[in-house]
Amino acid sequence: MPELTDIVGGREIVVVANRLPVDRVVETDGTASWRTSPGGLVTAMEPVVRELGCLWVGWSGGADEDLPPFEAEGMRLVPVPLSGDDLEGYYEGFANGTLWPLYHDVIAQPGFHREWWESYERVNRRFAEVVAHEAPRDAIVWVHDYQLQLVPALLRALRPDLTIAFFLHIPFPARPLFAQLPWRREIVEGLLGADVVGFQREQDAASFRAAAERYADALAHGNLLRLSAEDDDPSRSVLAQEFPISIDADAFAALATRPEVRRRAEEIREELGNPRTVLLGVDRLDYTKGIRHRLKAFAELLDEGEVTVGEAALVQVASPSRERVAAYRRLREEVERTVGRINGEHGSIAHTPVVYLHQGFSREEMAALYLAADVLVVTALRDGMNLVAKEYVACRSDELGVLVLSEFTGAADELRRALLVNPHDIEGMKAAFLRAIHMPEKEQQRRMRGLRAVVQGNDVRHWAENFLRASSSMAEQRAAADTSETGAGADSPATGPILLSASMEGSLRRFATAPELIVACDFDGTLAPIVSHPGDARIIERSQRALSILQQAPGVHVVLISGRSVEDLLATGIDTDGWIVSGSHGIELVGLAPLATADPGAAGPRGAAARFGTPLSPEESDGISALGRRLARIFGREPGVRLEPKPFGIAVHTRQVRDEERSDDILDAATRIGAEAGYEARNGKRVREFSARLSDKGSALGHIRSRLPDAPVLFLGDDVTDEDVFRTLEVDDLGVKVGAGDTAARARIADPEAVSAVLARLAELRTGIVIGSEPTE
Ligand code: G6P
Repeated sequence: MPELTDIVGGREIVVVANRLPVDRVVETDGTASWRTSPGGLVTAMEPVVRELGCLWVGWSGGADEDLPPFEAEGMRLVPVPLSGDDLEGYYEGFANGTLWPLYHDVIAQPGFHREWWESYERVNRRFAEVVAHEAPRDAIVWVHDYQLQLVPALLRALRPDLTIAFFLHIPFPARPLFAQLPWRREIVEGLLGADVVGFQREQDAASFRAAAERYADALAHGNLLRLSAEDDDPSRSVLAQEFPISIDADAFAALATRPEVRRRAEEIREELGNPRTVLLGVDRLDYTKGIRHRLKAFAELLDEGEVTVGEAALVQVASPSRERVAAYRRLREEVERTVGRINGEHGSIAHTPVVYLHQGFSREEMAALYLAADVLVVTALRDGMNLVAKEYVACRSDELGVLVLSEFTGAADELRRALLVNPHDIEGMKAAFLRAIHMPEKEQQRRMRGLRAVVQGNDVRHWAENFLRASSSMAEQRAAADTSETGAGADSPATGPILLSASMEGSLRRFATAPELIVACDFDGTLAPIVSHPGDARIIERSQRALSILQQAPGVHVVLISGRSVEDLLATGIDTDGWIVSGSHGIELVGLAPLATADPGAAGPRGAAARFGTPLSPEESDGISALGRRLARIFGREPGVRLEPKPFGIAVHTRQVRDEERSDDILDAATRIGAEAGYEARNGKRVREFSARLSDKGSALGHIRSRLPDAPVLFLGDDVTDEDVFRTLEVDDLGVKVGAGDTAARARIADPEAVSAVLARLAELRTGIVIGSEPTE
């Protein structure tokens, strides 16, 4: 395991968050002590900070406390004071009355008040000034969460030597919601002061990039946002991508194996009257967590007699939170009223259906609760990640227990083997609760094993490594740009290493260990950059090497799926030795042996080259020729239009038509002409194709995988025609869209260079062979 200090190249780290990781608690006898603060941010960061030994700047949790820097639990802490007014305007107001509801899909109505905003600005400036004063030269400053979104730009102005990284722990809203914020431009500009802006989910990062393009004139190239030069500031790039956060999985697992924790778990069950099923909810008492929805579903199951008291009990831990904010006070009243009603109606002297605990607990007690719970219910209406779900999974080394998880949590992107629910759908949730209560142990084990592999494979150490590696790499790029006259500081596109997102890295690791694997790629715009003359397209050298290495690795099947004819592909000079090649949008297929039963003499999938698709019949041929003649008559003299005869049809290319609107008109007209002749147009990037045979890339891949049913598929493609493949992919597969545009793919990367980085990384993980970005020759 690499040392975090090596990853950051020996630079010092300063963590900046609204809260210090500890709260000051004053006992009734007047003695003060420090206790770990609630919330996911602290849980995640604590182990990282301990390892790196960094400085942490934040608020102590009390009003008008001016404390000097101090050490607690081995951490160096620098308090930032907040007055009563700051608490009202910045913390309860703008952070938790405006941003929190806005960023959580407006579950509660956000308030837009100018005084709150002014207070937010003022406090952000104070944080930036404290950091500017404390941070060692050239340090990496890691700013956290929605309370401090202006700090990056303010800090950059004060201390240009620093590398600034920002991580948003909560969701970033979709554009139409973010647009409501009167200070949307200021927030985006504040964040763009960072070198790296990290998010929980791909969707959050994409929404932010869209907001940056819209409100700050940034230009997105994949995950990088390019900012043009302004006054004294040279142009620079900001990496905006997802880094899904996690927990210290080993520490939770170790905690859960301690004998006293196990004993406590048994005790908890006994204290509950040994019900057959213990359901558990653990949340901050927050309206985003869906606690009311969960109680409603449970109450209806009791009303309907589907669940009986004594057989099942729901333990709801709701740790106190933001109690001075009106929406939180209302929620508390409502939850407590509902719990009272359920217990009043369904409880007995011996049994309480809902055990409600408005308290925070130690980690040991939490681990015991997780062990005692047969079902953990996470029903958030919106949640950046939800680490409670991951903690539960990490504690269950017995591989038992069921996780019911809301689709609207970041965790749901990773924990696919949970019982996923839509918390707004009460009937659906009731069905999931019943399914969980009655789930056979075998199924529990199968699911829990999968969940545990995910949590252990991406723990908080990985998260910190990935985030710090990206920050450090941006720091190096910036340093290089500062020292070079023509470097990235000039208006050239960003250069330097291509950073793979944490989720991409996770998927590649999974593919690297799959016994059988299909690595499938499109050609133009994916393996080869798009060029004006299709005949000039060439595969990027690094991709060629990576695919050749992968092709030789046991269990890997390399597939090329292109709209070009096979002949045309080979004419570009690509080496497809041993590959399966599908050309002409799936009509041609080379390299896939016939089924063993049909042809016992044939070798495996890489055996004899078999051509797929019989030649055109005279009628098919005549039809296409007639269409070709008509298109030639109409567009033959149009500057920039090129008609390409294909083995099974004809294509109209307009990439060289100067005016894009004109090109669209030509393509629309061609589509109509094709339709009149009975041919459906296939849309590509400024190309329309008409074919005598109905086929697409998706059916081509379907045919290939019918011979290799156990191999998951990694497919990379850039064009609309590749969507036919993306749409056929299943849970264990991964579709990667190259470049911009709507897509059904689950991941996106910038360009063919990034494709070569992905393929090289996969080849490295699968075979150990490292392929640099420079050609070896
Ligand atoms: C969430 C937020 C954190 C916050 C925590 C506790 O996890 O993302 O930034 O610190 O809740 O909320 P509080 O308002 O008590 O700090």
